[in-house]
Amino acid sequence: MKITPRVFSGMQPTGSLHLGNYLGAMVNWIRMQDTHECIYCVVDLHAITVWQDPVELRDATRQVTAAYIAAGLDPAKSILFNQSQVSAHAELGWIFNCVARLGWLNRMTQFKEKAGKDREQASVGLYAYPNLMAADILAYRATHVPVGDDQKQHLELARDIAQKFNNDFRDRIVAEGFADGIFFPQPEPVITGPATRVMSLRDGTKKMSKSDPSDLSRINLTDDADTIAKKIQKAKTDPEPIPAEAEGFKGRPEAENLVGIYAALADEPVAKVLAAFGGQQFSGFKKALAEVATDKVGRIGDETRRLMQDPAEIDRILAGGAGRARAIAAPVMEKVKDIVGLIRS
Ligand code: TRP
Repeated sequence: MKITPRVFSGMQPTGSLHLGNYLGAMVNWIRMQDTHECIYCVVDLHAITVWQDPVELRDATRQVTAAYIAAGLDPAKSILFNQSQVSAHAELGWIFNCVARLGWLNRMTQFKEKAGKDREQASVGLYAYPNLMAADILAYRATHVPVGDDQKQHLELARDIAQKFNNDFRDRIVAEGFADGIFFPQPEPVITGPATRVMSLRDGTKKMSKSDPSDLSRINLTDDADTIAKKIQKAKTDPEPIPAEAEGFKGRPEAENLVGIYAALADEPVAKVLAAFGGQQFSGFKKALAEVATDKVGRIGDETRRLMQDPAEIDRILAGGAGRARAIAAPVMEKVKDIVGLIRS
């Protein structure tokens, strides 16, 4: 049971993925398929840490799966499944509840944000969420975790949990044949991507977000070509022309954002985009941007809708992925039980 390079990441089944998700995470995941063994998980157990309508949850799980496949995630190459089908996540999550310390979780900024003022009313699951996330990763002894920068703190916690487990059970781990005392690796965040920060089309200082009340602030992966063109047309800009160099972005977050989006979608460096469009008005640039955006995003939307016409096929894909995931996680869980002292048959 050697530790080998392995990628794990998870996405929440929220149903409404947007351009920020695509350029910030999905593109990266899809790229890594060619170089690594990859496990990608639709984290439905994480979703229910806040209330989810059961009918909508199923639909959103299929929707997210379809969108990832439409964007280029290949379920034959990578393992793609929904979390709740592999019991190792919840089992190891419980064990990690007993490894992680209250003091560690009390520092998690995302819990504070999500729980808001009425912390007494937050679910226990929302509080323990980072332990489950650590279990997601470590049930496969994954080494690389492509995530957005908002997940950095959770990943540090996963590293702390791995280390404390290795320390607490050191003698047992060595007795089980891990001579160096290392059972869980230290998973590393991979925070890169063509555009890690895609901003709102209405306010260049705010991240593009599914919770923004204005739908004009984001490009959803399900938007059709007309909608995408209209949103780009209406995107906030300033009266100045496009700068010729990146220094010209100072104090112009909307300009920087639109040019950044173009560069990421066209897979070109920002400098090259500025060399082509510098000095021009936004009206012409927006037409060019609408063209690349409808080409890429419109295609993903069309393909997602096509896949969603056959939900049974999506369920089959998830079931197949779950089987492959279980085959990796099951022997890890057996070792964990032996290490911790839990009798198994
Ligand atoms: N917490 C992550 C998010 O909200 C999703 C997630 C759950 C995840 N488990 C994970 C990401 C494991 C990476 C690895 O985006």
